[in-house]
Amino acid sequence: MNPQRRALLRAGSLAAALPMAASAALPPPLPPVPAGTTPDALAGNQAYWQAVAAQYDTTDAIVQLDNAFWGSMARPVLRHYEQQLAMVNRDNAWYARMRFPADFEAARVAAARALGVGVDEIVLTRGATEALQVLIAGYNRLQPGNAVLYADIDYDNMITVTRWLQQRRGAQVVSIAMPEPFTHDNVVAAYVAAMERHPTLKLMLLTHVNHRNGMVLPVAEISRLARARGIDVIVDTAHGFGQLDMTIPDLQADFAGINLHKWIGAPVGVGAAYIKRGRVADIEPYLGEKAGDDIRTRVHTGTVNFAAYLSLPAALDLHAQIGVANKQARLRLLRNRWVEAARAIEGIEVLASADPRLTSAIASFRLKGRTSVADSYALSKKLVQEHGIFAVPRDGLASGACVRVTPGIFTPESHLDRLVEALRKVAKG
Ligand SMILES: Cc1ncc(COP(=O)(O)O)c(C=O)c1O
Repeated sequence: MNPQRRALLRAGSLAAALPMAASAALPPPLPPVPAGTTPDALAGNQAYWQAVAAQYDTTDAIVQLDNAFWGSMARPVLRHYEQQLAMVNRDNAWYARMRFPADFEAARVAAARALGVGVDEIVLTRGATEALQVLIAGYNRLQPGNAVLYADIDYDNMITVTRWLQQRRGAQVVSIAMPEPFTHDNVVAAYVAAMERHPTLKLMLLTHVNHRNGMVLPVAEISRLARARGIDVIVDTAHGFGQLDMTIPDLQADFAGINLHKWIGAPVGVGAAYIKRGRVADIEPYLGEKAGDDIRTRVHTGTVNFAAYLSLPAALDLHAQIGVANKQARLRLLRNRWVEAARAIEGIEVLASADPRLTSAIASFRLKGRTSVADSYALSKKLVQEHGIFAVPRDGLASGACVRVTPGIFTPESHLDRLVEALRKVAKG
């Protein structure tokens, strides 16, 4: 283990002292969204968001600003999950063989409805990683000499799989770095320039909301430009679906990997792969599975966490009850609260755009000029040890490493204010 990571883990060891979460008492039911309220107006409604926060178990041991790793289940979803786990454990194979196939299909139907796609266009996976590995590695339209593109904002493992296409399919793998500061137009221009520079491009990986600085990529626009040149795109929407007001067809892409255990709040171990109707044949059947156009032959997970999938409909119901446009507006308000204050602090560089089209819950910062991985780990450690704030170091951007901040819909505004206060002190040295 590298020393910085070890130090960070040690710094976080207070987590070991935390009591087990008690899901015994359920919160009062969530009140309905007041009629006629716009998402932006609701975003500042303290009473409503306090009622939302009451649906979650949260810790007082630290200001937890890394809600991008995975999404805590709300207490009613956790309760449901515990009940399903107990049922499956009790009924064992009798349940798993006799009733689970229909329940699993019902979960797929619920997911398809939320994603805005046909049931035949998705297959449930254990997360975005499994979905994207299947799509990238299984894409069979590459001829030797075709180029494949990824960018510095893409997720580490997806870059690894994309690079592997060189060995597996003889593709020429090329990469670009996003401009900084990034704007809608200069980001689109970076992809257009890459398409022009590499006329043999056949496939591009596009990350909808990246995990390094949270920039929302104009995926639909880039996908349309790619399609006009005969280039396919695979979209990593691990962070997009669930926090942005969108459905999968809005991406204008034929392939996408989706997480349902981040911003939807399903139990860990739930995601989906999307393949547009008519394109299943372009993704190989999974390791010798039957050919044909049933998308389920593209993933083979083996025995799954039954209870996790059984709890997906409950998570989707709560998501729909709050409303994705309302979630997006609340997350934007929380993100803007610290981003705008931090921009005014001398010595802090904020990696975020003011353009709402590029804005997600996630944004990052660094001390000006301090771009090494060691700098970002030291800064994150300082925030934990001296200020009781947990925000995670991220590297991989061409411009250097940074510290990522991600509120959740249950994060109180006071936590962002504590971060800003800490940044003022940290910037002074
Ligand atoms: C952009 C992005 N893609 C893919 C993944 C992989 O998601 P998972 O580990 O849940 O499969 C992540 C995880 O954080 C991510 O941030």
